Amino acid sequence: MSYPSSELHRDSAGRYIAGMKRPTDRTRPRRSRQRSNEQALSRRLVEVQEQERTLIARELHDQIGQTLSAVKVNLEAIHREVDDPSLLGRVTEAIAAVRRAVEQVQTLSFELRPSLLDDLGLAAAVDAYVRRQTEAAGLSLGLAIAVDGDLSKDVEAACFRILQEAVTNVVRHAKARRLEIDLRASGSSLRLTVRDDGVGFDSRSLQSTAPAERRLGLVGMSERAQYVGGALEIDSRPGAGTVVRARFGVRASGRGSG
Ligand SMILES: Nc1ncnc2c1ncn2[C@@H]1O[C@H](COP(=O)(O)OP(=O)(O)O)[C@@H](O)[C@H]1O
Ligand SMILES: [Mg+2]
Repeated sequence: MSYPSSELHRDSAGRYIAGMKRPTDRTRPRRSRQRSNEQALSRRLVEVQEQERTLIARELHDQIGQTLSAVKVNLEAIHREVDDPSLLGRVTEAIAAVRRAVEQVQTLSFELRPSLLDDLGLAAAVDAYVRRQTEAAGLSLGLAIAVDGDLSKDVEAACFRILQEAVTNVVRHAKARRLEIDLRASGSSLRLTVRDDGVGFDSRSLQSTAPAERRLGLVGMSERAQYVGGALEIDSRPGAGTVVRARFGVRASGRGSG
């Protein structure tokens, strides 16, 4: 399945926006206006969602994470003082439960918005995310990252979310043994490839599916790419694994400017 590649435009703030050209644009101006309003709206929705996620991830990490850590430290201190065996057993259980909760908070906050993405950028966040996921799923990993220089915050977020969905799909659906990720910036474009050797599916049939019936994860990936002026391609056949390719136009931008 190949989504229409978008023309690159910049808005008044100098950010890339997707200007999608479709045949209907010329023949049905009203439809196309309505569609571009809808696109602007859902792009705004993605922005707001991203802000919310960042906020919740921070709160989880900084507030709940800290509180749980304090509880854990206290329980461990009590554990050292207690002699009563039955009490000792319950304190041990409580410590284990708090440890699990600390891990759950970390995982959740990482899923919502890895602070690495904001602090160290896309390459570090991708590296950490992919290693974590493949280890948990027992997948063998081929990882190549060649990104230097600053990327715009929007492109970084879009690329990371696409990677997240693609990798989640591999873990959930593919029954793969190996996952290969390639992220490279060259010239004026950033390319992400996510390839698995799993069961695959008929990606061509997605084109003929009515938009409302398409699966949200796959559609979401392509929309994410289009919002920042990029394009997405999914190539899969039953028995032949799946390749997801995303391409973005990039420009240099100061970290923390967006
Ligand atoms: N890497 C993959 N390997 C095998 N099947 C996949 C893969 N990615 C997607 N699919 C198939 O495409 C469907 C749609 O994916 P998606 O839109 O992400 O929805 P969801 O993950 O919620 O099922 C999946 O249910 C699955 O059948
Ligand atoms: Mg999915």
